[in-house]
Amino acid sequence: MTETALIAGLPPGPPLRLLQMFRYLRDPYTTLRGYAQHYGNLFTVRTARLCVMTGRPDLVRQIISAPVDQYGVNYEPGPARVLGTNGTTRLAGRALRRERRLIVPHFQGETLNALGGMIREATLDAFDKFRPGDSFVVRDPAIDVALDVILRTVFGADTAERRETFRVAVRAFSKGFGNPAFLILTALRFDKEWPPPYRRFATARQRLEALLQDAIERAREEGLAGAAILNRVVAARYDDGTPMSDVAIRDNMITTLIAGHETSVVSLCWGLYWLHREKRCLDLLMDELTPLGPDADPMAWARLPYLDAVVKETLRLWPVVTDINRVLAQPMQLDRYEVPAGTNIAASSAILHYDPDLYPDAEAFRPERFLDRRFGPHEYLPFGGGERMCPGSHLSVFELKIALATLLTRARYTLLDEGTMTVKRMGGMMTPSSGVRLRLEELRR
Ligand code: HEM
Repeated sequence: MTETALIAGLPPGPPLRLLQMFRYLRDPYTTLRGYAQHYGNLFTVRTARLCVMTGRPDLVRQIISAPVDQYGVNYEPGPARVLGTNGTTRLAGRALRRERRLIVPHFQGETLNALGGMIREATLDAFDKFRPGDSFVVRDPAIDVALDVILRTVFGADTAERRETFRVAVRAFSKGFGNPAFLILTALRFDKEWPPPYRRFATARQRLEALLQDAIERAREEGLAGAAILNRVVAARYDDGTPMSDVAIRDNMITTLIAGHETSVVSLCWGLYWLHREKRCLDLLMDELTPLGPDADPMAWARLPYLDAVVKETLRLWPVVTDINRVLAQPMQLDRYEVPAGTNIAASSAILHYDPDLYPDAEAFRPERFLDRRFGPHEYLPFGGGERMCPGSHLSVFELKIALATLLTRARYTLLDEGTMTVKRMGGMMTPSSGVRLRLEELRR
């Protein structure tokens, strides 16, 4: 079927592909909400692919609770070059479910008990250099916190030396795939190995793989005596008693690094921004944190209701991932449209999280809304949902709580950014445009 014939049977949407791509890349939040307002909350966009998109709760529910064989693999050679071809990003259906059973449980539940102290240490290491009177951009230390947390809690890099070796390798790896020449080649789907940007990236990836292989072997020796998530993944077994292959573990760990790093950076920036902009919320949070003190058990912090609401509201307002995409392996009936196999569909948190029936006064930072009612998975989507939902959701909420509590119980800050914060794209993510500027006023006794 031609694209024109295909589009004729799909929901209406904006006509100009290049303009859509440009607007989406510049600001997906207002672009997607604008389309929903103009075309209705089920519309078709043509960016890199043809995609039917919605933020309607009933349709979001349908998308995230579809049968296991509803979706296929969204194969793009560029991401495959970066993430590898042996991890969950290249699986769908039952094979995906089987693989995730060996990974996801270790990012939540009692595993987190042992990780709180590591997150507090990572936060202190990154922010300890600031003294009263110092001004700084939160994004810089937040990058260190987020990477350190993954290195310590996921990869088990338990010494400063191991973390530094990893940091060097991760920097070269990120530089390799952030290189404009690399991005252009992958966008053009150029799939030979000889161009220098590809070769440089391949060398950086091999270096990271070698370090991960060392970490896997260490985790194998330590067994479950080591607290890191990697130790648990290495020890896990499929139903037939076999373990995950080393190459699959490496690709999955690299995916974790990419998916879990920048997302956590942006969330910490927004959390500190909103709390310092909405003094009322900071005061309420301090009423909860102060009695426990700066050295509280991280699990006690994790149970605090207002802190939990603050984190949820932070992730609602500017969801780092604005829409989750799926490619249909089977046709799907969405409202009155029969969307054919091969088409992309997407559920958009950028639209859903501003639904006035769910979130009155949606543009305001009001953590109380999460104390007043519980939202279903189809009403609140910062981590996606269904078979592909973010495996790091519990870990990253936990991380954000510990990082905020660590910083706020030790020091008082003021926000230097004035007016309304705008967003800009950095790497693949939308971030607060200033990076959030704070001044450390005093250390708390
Ligand atoms: C605030 C921080 C984070 C946010 C907002 C976030 C959000 C998301 C979203 C929306 C997805 C797509 C889910 C879907 O398609 O339904 C995703 C995927 C993923 N996330 Fe996160 N994430 C965060 C942190 C983390 C962390 C800390 C890790 C691990 C350490 C992680 C690991 C992953 C992985 C591995 C995937 C890909 C799953 C797959 O396709 O198989 N994320 N994340």
